[in-house]
Amino acid sequence: MNQTILLIDDDDSLRRVTEYNLSSHGFRVIAADSGNQGLDFFHSHTPDLVVSDVKLGDINGLDLMERIKKSSPDTPVIIMTAFGSIEMAVRAMHKGAFNFITKPFDRDTLILSCEKALELRGLRSRTRMLSHEVDRLTGTRGIVSASSAMKELLETASRAANSEATVLISGESGTGKEVLARLIHQNSPRNKGPMVAVNCAAIPATLIESELFGHVKGAFTGAVKDRKGFFLAAGGGSLFLDEIGELAVDVQVKLLRAIQERQIQPVGAEQPRNVDIRIIAATNLDLQDRIAKGEFREDLFYRLSVIPLFIPPLRERKEDIPALVTHFLKKFDAPADVSFSGNAVKALSKYSWPGNIREMQNIVERCIILRSAPLIRAGDLNLPGQEVSASALDPVIPDQGISLEAVEKAYVVKALEKAGQNRSEAARLLKIPRHVLLYRLEKYGL
Ligand SMILES: Nc1ncnc2c1ncn2[C@@H]1O[C@H](COP(=O)(O)OP(=O)(O)OP(=O)(O)O)[C@@H](O)[C@H]1O
Ligand SMILES: [Mg+2]
Repeated sequence: MNQTILLIDDDDSLRRVTEYNLSSHGFRVIAADSGNQGLDFFHSHTPDLVVSDVKLGDINGLDLMERIKKSSPDTPVIIMTAFGSIEMAVRAMHKGAFNFITKPFDRDTLILSCEKALELRGLRSRTRMLSHEVDRLTGTRGIVSASSAMKELLETASRAANSEATVLISGESGTGKEVLARLIHQNSPRNKGPMVAVNCAAIPATLIESELFGHVKGAFTGAVKDRKGFFLAAGGGSLFLDEIGELAVDVQVKLLRAIQERQIQPVGAEQPRNVDIRIIAATNLDLQDRIAKGEFREDLFYRLSVIPLFIPPLRERKEDIPALVTHFLKKFDAPADVSFSGNAVKALSKYSWPGNIREMQNIVERCIILRSAPLIRAGDLNLPGQEVSASALDPVIPDQGISLEAVEKAYVVKALEKAGQNRSEAARLLKIPRHVLLYRLEKYGL
């Protein structure tokens, strides 16, 4: 297909000559006679290259280039400047022009410059495509691993991915079990096949067998047609059994048989069916504990944990926190000037993260949305139960002593001030019920 060039020049005769020269060389040319028309055409035609004069009637050519670069950084722009205007040419290059040509120029100079620019554009989009492809193949996009614990884990996971072995991922809620499972699938020889994810906890006990193994028409009331089931749907790919610890014991037996024999029996079917899948299971429960209680079969546990992978909770790998902040700022498209202050990052590192990375992601997103200034400070974080430890208050006891009541009263007054005399809010700040605060107010005659 012909490459499209957007030509912007308000000088009619020069524009016509240039347009003729470019199109006779085989380019598709869209010509605009003003900056605004140029911008319109840019958005409606998405050209491969822009050739623009600096002095346009309405917009300055360099400003126009900046706007184009902002919406499409990969599109090269060639600036035409008047003869002898070296300073303008230098500015154009500084602002990101691919090249400049000084008027009057001959046909060959113009064509050569355009061809070079288009070659660069081709390379850029190819690079971008390849880097996406690398991300896809290595599958590490979106997984932050700054801590040595996570690096080691990912290392083991990528070796596990190369095999067909069953993997059991464990870790608290929100630690990234599902992202790790996807990573393993993407890095495995089965990555051309599907990864079917099943949340074992979400399927009603009565349906789980037919959901997993499928059923034939008429197997039970409501089975109006054959159903494939997740095991067969994942054929050629991986089956991700999430929340495996929640599986009922009788289904565990059937699962064990399916894994051992690589065969399943759809509900109501006469013949067993062979399955070609790789199993990745995950749980946030302590399976050893479930085994001890007789709620999880030990033999199934050993079948699943051929390669056990444990994702440590976020509070045990705080080195990941600054990297995660950066990652989430990018993920949520925060403008370039938005950042977290040093103290804010410190506060994030001190927090215990019961909801792990999912919780952190939510908090960073909330901070980005609710920010009143580009710099997000510790006070903006609003971490749940963020306790100011007593030591942070640094109380001073005067030599003559101080009554605890006076201290309490002073804090009550402060809290009311901070709450703008709103008593419910003051009670919240002091972490006491409202009626207790009212009692104190009366007691201190406030
Ligand atoms: N290392 C990481 N880097 C970047 N994002 C991560 C990382 N780990 C997890 N996340 C993000 O955190 C969120 C929770 O991850 P995921 O759903 O994989 O957790 P989970 O362990 O399966 O949680 P649950 O037990 O509640 O199902 C997702 O949005 C995921 O993208
Ligand atoms: Mg999960």
